[in-house]
Amino acid sequence: MPGGSPEAYSQLEGMLVQIAAQTPSGPCVTWVGHGSAGHYVKMVHNGIEYAIMQLISEIYSVLKFGSLSNVEIAEIFEEWNEGELKSFLIEITAVVLRKKDEHSDHSLVDLILDKAKQKGTGMWTSQSAMDLNVPIPLIDTAVTMRFLSARKEERVQASSLYNIEHDSPSYSREKLIQLCKQSMLFGMLLSYGQGLDLLNQASANYKYEINISEVIRIWKGGCIIRSGLLDELQEVYTRNMSLKNILLSDNYVDVFTQTRKSVIELINYAMHHGVPVPCISSALNYFDAYRSAELSSNLIQAQRDYFGAHTYERKDMPGTFHSNWEEK
Ligand code: 3PG
Repeated sequence: MPGGSPEAYSQLEGMLVQIAAQTPSGPCVTWVGHGSAGHYVKMVHNGIEYAIMQLISEIYSVLKFGSLSNVEIAEIFEEWNEGELKSFLIEITAVVLRKKDEHSDHSLVDLILDKAKQKGTGMWTSQSAMDLNVPIPLIDTAVTMRFLSARKEERVQASSLYNIEHDSPSYSREKLIQLCKQSMLFGMLLSYGQGLDLLNQASANYKYEINISEVIRIWKGGCIIRSGLLDELQEVYTRNMSLKNILLSDNYVDVFTQTRKSVIELINYAMHHGVPVPCISSALNYFDAYRSAELSSNLIQAQRDYFGAHTYERKDMPGTFHSNWEEK
């Protein structure tokens, strides 16, 4: 994902093309944009990576709660990896879940301390999105969950304080797996969508001139977030370079409409059992908020005007208004 001087890139291009991963869509390298565009694109790649990893770990926790063994979950991921969810992260998760500990009979994953660390790129993605006012809640949630997971000692203490009874819907194993698959698809598409939204905004703001379709193309091979979903996504952005959000593309209306019901059922199951699925929930709330022609933010505007005279706009007439809210 090199950026910077196009002249420098053209001098290095021959070598970079040869060492890049090769796919049917070409070598996975291109000049991504001016200035710091290369670092920025790689940073957003990692933000998307955090979201997809968190989604997979939530699916794993739901299936584990549903009494599936690590090998059974690995089999499910292997099957998914043959279809539309085919991706590096799904593929390696199956391998991880099958790995035995060399010192015992346990799966190695069961012996790994549940404190996720980080080098910071996901956090930088969230910080930059805040600066640019771009909503990327899946990535934000994934970063937050790494911080929360790191508070192991507090979590252990809290777990002894809250002995909550769980009543619950119960699904057949087949149904649970189906709900997980649909939720994974829903969340993964939105993870890409939110990352690309941020790239679009950053490109305009920092004058990077990023070609989003080319970025998607070079993410198809040799990348942690490579997946089969990127084929259609690249086509969509190639046809419409100025697409503002994946949710505004006709291509995805059916898939989001159809998978939403499964996402709700999965969240319902997880919530009732006390299994946290923050990233999947965040995906659903983002979707429902984004597709809402009316939100409750009119009330926030009224509150801001009440306590700070920050003014508001009206639906029925142009201009900027301030009210004396206590006047009868
Ligand atoms: C990567 O290889 O993508 C990063 O090193 C992963 O970042 P993390 O250490 O912050 O998870």
